[in-house]
Amino acid sequence: MRIYLSEDYKAMSRRAANIISAQVITKPDSVLGLATGGTPVGAYQQLVEWYKKGDLSFAEIKTVNLDEYLGLSPHHEQSYRYFMQVNLFDHIDIKPENTHVLNGLAKDPQAECAAYNQLIRDLGGIDLQLLGMGHNGHIAFNEPGDDFGLETHVVTLTDRTIDANTRFFESRDEVPRHALSMGIKNIMQARRILIVVSGEEKAETVCKAFAGPVTKDVPASVLQLHPDVTLVGDRAALSKLVEAGVPVCG
Ligand code: PGA
Repeated sequence: MRIYLSEDYKAMSRRAANIISAQVITKPDSVLGLATGGTPVGAYQQLVEWYKKGDLSFAEIKTVNLDEYLGLSPHHEQSYRYFMQVNLFDHIDIKPENTHVLNGLAKDPQAECAAYNQLIRDLGGIDLQLLGMGHNGHIAFNEPGDDFGLETHVVTLTDRTIDANTRFFESRDEVPRHALSMGIKNIMQARRILIVVSGEEKAETVCKAFAGPVTKDVPASVLQLHPDVTLVGDRAALSKLVEAGVPVCG
């Protein structure tokens, strides 16, 4: 695992965008696994900026997103499809038909999950998977205690995740209770993984995930078993990892 420490959120975002753009440039028809949440927004802004400058093209890129709320339409402002359109897809030259997000309105959620697993296989697998990490160590909606062997599945959100996501909705009651999410197995099958973390409030969990034992209690810890992971964090998020003596690159 490579760990890069950036001074602040902006520098972290630029570093993450650099890694994604290197993938896009070296393999223009890459399959990118993409993530939502607050942390990757800066990296997406940077990619849009480089696209607008003419340094980057997504014309042959294909994307698969990690997850989607169950019950939200793609046009709902808090759906992850909407997030991807607003933060990335609407501003670059990616072909709409090459962007894939789970359908939150699927009549048969189990069938939607099975079809998504097949889609990932049909695309030839994920070249680079971008991840954020929740305060409890979740990746996508894989919560503490979840089975590492799962593929895309229906998830019941934990109280902590509902609390964390309430800031995006008018009230806690409006936060969906279920989601569709790639499983740890899908994530671990990606050829490369890039995980971005920011902020002091994640420092403890970052330390547990990357310097502690691999355990279902901290889902991100499974990434220690993947052969090609890059962790990019700001100084605050990596502070406890540094204190624990884990070597990082500047
Ligand atoms: P955040 O979410 O980037 O908004 O902190 C991360 C996650 O829950 O995966």
